[in-house]
Amino acid sequence: MIGVLVSGRGSNLQALIDQKLPIAAVASNVADAGALTRAAQAGIPTAVFALDDHASREERDLAMADWLVQHGAELVVCAGYMQLLTPAFLERCTAINVHPSLLPAFPGPTPIEDALAAGVAETGVTVHFVDEGVDSGPVIFQEPVPIEPGDTPERLRERVHAVEHRLLPEAARLYLAGALRS
Ligand code: GAR
Repeated sequence: MIGVLVSGRGSNLQALIDQKLPIAAVASNVADAGALTRAAQAGIPTAVFALDDHASREERDLAMADWLVQHGAELVVCAGYMQLLTPAFLERCTAINVHPSLLPAFPGPTPIEDALAAGVAETGVTVHFVDEGVDSGPVIFQEPVPIEPGDTPERLRERVHAVEHRLLPEAARLYLAGALRS
């Protein structure tokens, strides 16, 4: 079973649901994240762990890790989760993340816009194990996505998302099958 962390609209969560990954629970740092609605519609338990509701980031992360593990998560999948995970969390749970660039290029919150601004010929998708850094940790999959003339962030993001929706469920599936170890 996987636990999923989300902060946004949740198209990657939807791919995990549609591809029948066994999802034990979905947690978010954002109370009104669209992804939580998708989880609820699929009958998956949800919870919000906002930083403001906790004494510290470590305390929040421990509560979030405990909740996911109690629900049966063997792996945590960051599907558009936009905060760093503390060592307290990572000591308790193995986590993987999807990021819309060919890391280590363009880490951080605006990788699509950054790739377009840099004028590179291609960007792509990385799925990786999570460590304490910003979009860092051992790479599981990378796949390039060519940048086309006249690309806008919206058009490029759509093609990148299509790749993410294939690679992230595949990585989670392999981990659960015992074919991937951190
Ligand atoms: C995805 O593109 C994901 O790769 C990215 O946030 C988006 C979430 O979309 N994650 C990061 O940038 C992590 N650093 P979604 O909510 O529709 O799945």
